[in-house]
Amino acid sequence: MDKFLINGPCRIKGNVSISGSKNASLPILAATLLFNKPVIIKNLPRVRDINTMLNLLKSLGSKIILSRDRKTAKIINKKNMKTFASYSLVKTMRGSILVLGPLISKFYRSKTSLPGGCLIGARPVNYHLIALKKLGMKYKIRDGYIIAKSDGRLKGKTIKFPKISVGATENSIIAACLAKGKTILKNCAMEPEIKDLTQFLNKAGANIKWSGRTCIITGIDSLNQTTHTVMADRIEAGTFCVAATLAKGNLQVKNLDPKIINTELELLKKVGAKIKTTNNKIFIKGPDKIKSIKNIKTKEFPGIPTDLQAQLMVLMCKSVGKSSITENIFENRFMHVAELQRLGAKINIKNNKAFIDGNTNFIGAELMSSDLRASVALVLAAMVANGKSIIGRVYHLERGYENIENKLKKIGVRIKRLK
Ligand code: UD1
Repeated sequence: MDKFLINGPCRIKGNVSISGSKNASLPILAATLLFNKPVIIKNLPRVRDINTMLNLLKSLGSKIILSRDRKTAKIINKKNMKTFASYSLVKTMRGSILVLGPLISKFYRSKTSLPGGCLIGARPVNYHLIALKKLGMKYKIRDGYIIAKSDGRLKGKTIKFPKISVGATENSIIAACLAKGKTILKNCAMEPEIKDLTQFLNKAGANIKWSGRTCIITGIDSLNQTTHTVMADRIEAGTFCVAATLAKGNLQVKNLDPKIINTELELLKKVGAKIKTTNNKIFIKGPDKIKSIKNIKTKEFPGIPTDLQAQLMVLMCKSVGKSSITENIFENRFMHVAELQRLGAKINIKNNKAFIDGNTNFIGAELMSSDLRASVALVLAAMVANGKSIIGRVYHLERGYENIENKLKKIGVRIKRLK
């Protein structure tokens, strides 16, 4: 298993181009199952989770033609598609559950593996199932699979989600596109990735409208051939902006609409970063002294994303005072803490809140990645630590960060892959 060797401390300078969003690409790719006609998706990030989704689509019968740079996929569905999403594919990526909505909506049947647990919490799919059941899906759980069918087309209904869920909102929107009549989804997640999914489907003829956290979908009979360019990855962009703030950097972050990370940029300004934006670039300079922030709280969009929590914790370790971070989305998303402590971080956890003493002088150490965002936080910490750090299990990073090693190298991080 590959490792990264990082020789800190590093100073960050230069420019970085942000890739397409993984979390927008996944529901968009799942939604291509609804189409009879070819679909072209551009700006896909070259990361492992996207390969997993493309393999899942292939296993269901989609023909996928990738461009030479593997960023554009032309997807053509067969007449007779399969409806079986196997455990071997679903277990490696929870986002695979997003094929359930389109399968049941288009083919009226599906056998989809339950995704199982994951390190950051139990991550059940009950809200997905409740919503799809309301639309007319009948199902039973057997041998770890959701065995589902419907009597013909799903039927539009009003559904209020008990809690805001990104995945359940996406699965329901996709399923409701081809349902009979009107579906009204209340208390929806409204992350930019969901708006990107909506734009893609509307371009293909779907009728989806938003009003705050309510989404109204008027079902149609079929979708048209279309081409869509996936939005930029706001978590990757946020991660690079944190890196610049952390390492007295001077960085140009390119290829994104800065509005998608407005909340994050406001927070970085509060800690002392100097930030300027244009319509597709961010210029960010890190401060000499990072100010601490008393209570950072993760929240659904437009709040601070949970996917940036670990990176912000590294930033607070290097700030000049005391701070705290409350994790409100996942119950167990502090695995990076023990690893950061190995570098010298002073962090105490009480329930879902981390109390951080700043002024940490990180000293390089051997570290282990646990999940996607936790591992990038370790890379950031190693980047500002004194001495060498070795980070194991870098495959976690490759699930969601395109070409991370080269992007970091290009902006001044002394990083090397050890095979
Ligand atoms: C998506 C993102 C992930 C991000 C998360 C929160 C993708 C592929 N993944 O994950 O990167 O961290 O949003 O922004 O886009 N829940 C239930 N029952 C359900 C569904 C969710 O209890 O049926 C709970 C979850 O355990 C969690 C919370 O609701 O505590 C939010 O989860 P959700 O928004 O659904 O996250 P994902 O869609 O899995």
